Amino acid sequence: MDRKILMHVGPTMIDIDVLLAGVRNNTGFASPEFVTSMGNALNGLKYVMNAPDYQPFILPGSGTMAMESVTSLLKKGDNVLIVSSGVFGDRWVNIFKKYPLNIKHLRSEPGHIIPQEEVSRELENGKYKMVTITQVETSTGVLYPVESLVKKIRDKVDIIVVDAVASAGAEKLNVQDWGIDVCLTASQKAMAAPPGAALMVLSQNAVNHLSENSISGFYTDLNQWIKVMNSFQNGKSGYYTTLPVHIVFSLEKAFDLIREETLENRIKRHEIVSGAIRAGLNGMDMPVMAEKGFESHTVTGMMLDGISMNDFLSECLNNGIEMATGIVPEYAGKYVRIGHMGWINQNDAISTVAVIERVLRDMGRKIPANSGVSAAQEYLSSNIKD
Ligand SMILES: Cc1ncc(COP(=O)(O)O)c(C=O)c1O
Repeated sequence: MDRKILMHVGPTMIDIDVLLAGVRNNTGFASPEFVTSMGNALNGLKYVMNAPDYQPFILPGSGTMAMESVTSLLKKGDNVLIVSSGVFGDRWVNIFKKYPLNIKHLRSEPGHIIPQEEVSRELENGKYKMVTITQVETSTGVLYPVESLVKKIRDKVDIIVVDAVASAGAEKLNVQDWGIDVCLTASQKAMAAPPGAALMVLSQNAVNHLSENSISGFYTDLNQWIKVMNSFQNGKSGYYTTLPVHIVFSLEKAFDLIREETLENRIKRHEIVSGAIRAGLNGMDMPVMAEKGFESHTVTGMMLDGISMNDFLSECLNNGIEMATGIVPEYAGKYVRIGHMGWINQNDAISTVAVIERVLRDMGRKIPANSGVSAAQEYLSSNIKD
C-alpha cells in the first residue's frame, strides 16, 4: 500500500508546512534569516518546555547527543543515580560508563516503574550529584510521574535530569514550576520535525554547574555551546560546530504550530488518541505492556501473546499502518510498540485499531468482528467534547 500512516515511536509524521519550511538552499549560520529563525526556535523550545527563564539549547544531533552533553555538568568521581524503566533509561548507563563516574542503576521490570519512595530513599542514603529520570520510556510505553517524584527529591540531589525525548510537546511537563534542572528532547518525536537536532533547557542551577573542568568531550561541551546559544538569543550569529540549518527552519515552524494549537490542546489530543487506541486494544483483549495508571500518551506497547512480531508488523504495514518492534530485551519479539505522538489524530487511532483487528483476525486470533473498532469509537464518542 503506497499511502501509509506512520504510527511509529519516532521519527513521526511531519506537517507539510513544517517540512516545507526546511526546503530551501543551504543557508549560512550568519545569514540574517537563520539568526532570526534560530532565535525564534530557541524561544519556541522554552515555550514547549514551560521554562521561560531557562537556558535553551538547539544542538546538532539527536536525543542521545543531548543525553551525553549532560556530562558538561559533571566532574571526575561524581556519583550519579539512574532511574530506569527500560532501554532508554539504561542508555544513561551506557553513556556514563564511558566517563569517570560512579553510577548507581535502579531498573524496574518492563512495564513498571521504580517506586518513587525507592528513589527518594536511595538519594537519602547516598550522596548524589545527579539523578536521571525518563518521563516516557519509549521501549515500554510507561509514563513516570515526574512531577511528584521531583517534589519528593528536589532537596536531596544537586541536579535533576529528565529525558523527555518521547514526551515533550505531548505530555504534561512544567519544567520550571516542577523544578527540573535539565530537560532534554529531540526534533523528530512529539515536536514532529525532521530528525537532526538535540533540544534541551537548563535551569540557572544547572548552568552554574557548567565548567571548564567538566568531564565532557569536545562536541558535547555545553560550556562552549552556551556562548553560541546566547549569541543567537541576542540576535547575533555564533559558531562552535555547524548547526543543522534546515532542521532549525522546520523546528521554528513546528513550534509556531504548537503555539497555535496551544500546549494544553496538544496534550489533550494526545490523551484522547492514546485513550482510543488503548480502548480498542482492550476491546480485543490485547494486553498493554504498561502497568495500569502508568500508561503514556505517546507510546503503547501491545503484548502479542504468541503471535509472531515480524509477521504481525509486516502485515500491518501491508495494510498501511507502520508500527515499531518491541525492543526491551526481556520481551524481545513478544510485543510491538504503537507510536502516537506529534500530529496524530482520532482518525489515525481508528485506522490503527481497525488494521490491528483485521490483521489479528487474519492471523487466526479469535476476536469478534469490530470488537476493537467499536470500543475505540465508544471511547471517542464519550471523550470528545466540542
Ligand atoms: C526516551 C528516549 N530517550 C532517548 C532516546 C534517544 O534519542 P535519539 O534516538 O534521538 O538519539 C530515545 C529514542 O527513541 C528515546 O525514546
